[in-house]
Amino acid sequence: MAQSSNPILLTGATGFIGSNLAAHLLLTTKAQVFCLVRAPNAQERLIQAVRAAARAAALDDQILPQLNRLTAIAADLTQPQLGLGSAQWRVLQSAGVAQLWHCAASLRFEPRHRADIFERNVMGTQRVLDLAAALQISQFNAMSTAYVAGKCSGLVAEQPVAHHAAPNNDYEASKRQAENRLLNAHQQGTFQVNIFRPSIVIGNSTTYDSTSDSGLYGFVAAVEQFRQQLRLNGSYVQHCLLRVHTPDGTTSGLNLMPIDRLLHEAIALAQSPTPSQVVYHLSNPFLVSLESLQHALTSIYPDLELQGVRELSELQPVDRLFHRRLRFYHPYLHDTKQFERRRDAHPPADLRLTVPQLERYLQRFITRFRWRNAAPPDEIAV
Ligand SMILES: NC(=O)c1ccc[n+]([C@@H]2O[C@H](COP(=O)([O-])OP(=O)(O)OC[C@H]3O[C@@H](n4cnc5c(N)ncnc54)[C@H](OP(=O)(O)O)[C@@H]3O)[C@@H](O)[C@H]2O)c1
Repeated sequence: MAQSSNPILLTGATGFIGSNLAAHLLLTTKAQVFCLVRAPNAQERLIQAVRAAARAAALDDQILPQLNRLTAIAADLTQPQLGLGSAQWRVLQSAGVAQLWHCAASLRFEPRHRADIFERNVMGTQRVLDLAAALQISQFNAMSTAYVAGKCSGLVAEQPVAHHAAPNNDYEASKRQAENRLLNAHQQGTFQVNIFRPSIVIGNSTTYDSTSDSGLYGFVAAVEQFRQQLRLNGSYVQHCLLRVHTPDGTTSGLNLMPIDRLLHEAIALAQSPTPSQVVYHLSNPFLVSLESLQHALTSIYPDLELQGVRELSELQPVDRLFHRRLRFYHPYLHDTKQFERRRDAHPPADLRLTVPQLERYLQRFITRFRWRNAAPPDEIAV
């Protein structure tokens, strides 16, 4: 177990999970936090991202005095030896890093990005493993995804992936291969490896705010953009009825995990003095039903009516367009998997999300999305 004052090395600290993790580590340890960040302006981008994460968690006042313990080191997952120059290498070697958190990845999924997805997620993970071995760290924590499980259903064990179930896309396939590299490193025994598998990560459970654009937020952005496009081409007048394909009724739904709860779990597991597992699901034991999501969306868009239909043949042309636009999200919207959490004697009941809470998460995102995209005022007032 790494001591709380030993230097920590992070990848992906300009991203959603990594920036929240960096903020959390600065606030809960005395450690120097070194972060591998892509150039240019690595230090500036790092500080901006960690401040934004802290702001979303209403921790901006607390984070400011801690930022001097944050150091960016220019690096790139796609470059041989991560593109580290001799000066950066010396800094890392003399730092005495004990613990590494690997959060950097590509979250793209489209086939046209296949080569880049595998380069970053598989080869990038291998390069970070090689660096960890060279630095003789004692613990390697990696963010994988619960969706390495692919198209399987039912209970997914905290075990290496069962390969009979195909992945849904190249992102999932690449994360599986990355897990294989991590498991090989674990078997070699050079350092302790923890593989964390988040489900769909959402904002802070107290403020409902986040800095993420992916997962649930990518889905909502797609709904928002579709709605705006219908408006622009005149199809959207006062009221819009969209039929959505909901093939399997009540047992399916979304697995949403608030970022602060996820990080508390991950850090507690990483600190365990007697780890009994390598793979851990950082998922919610309670699914949010598609019906709850529909309720939350219609309360935000009172003029948008979503109606579930069982057969694809019931979709009208505009619904089909909507269906195609959201195809990446279908496996996650209709998920029937349960992710094992061996550590729970009882599932933490306060992880169950209510519809009003879901509405707050969505509303906070939509406000940020519209602000950033500077939509004209008449489109802001829904
Ligand atoms: N968010 C979720 O809902 C979710 C769910 C399950 C699993 N995960 C996993 O959790 C991890 C973090 O996800 P996230 O949501 O934080 O992703 P994110 O917001 O997209 O952040 C990705 C991070 O990776 C960095 N990165 C990408 N390519 C890089 C490269 N070539 N060299 C160096 N750094 C690079 C990005 O740096 P730049 O700022 O330079 O782009 C950014 O810091 C990933 O492994 C992801 O698979 C996420």
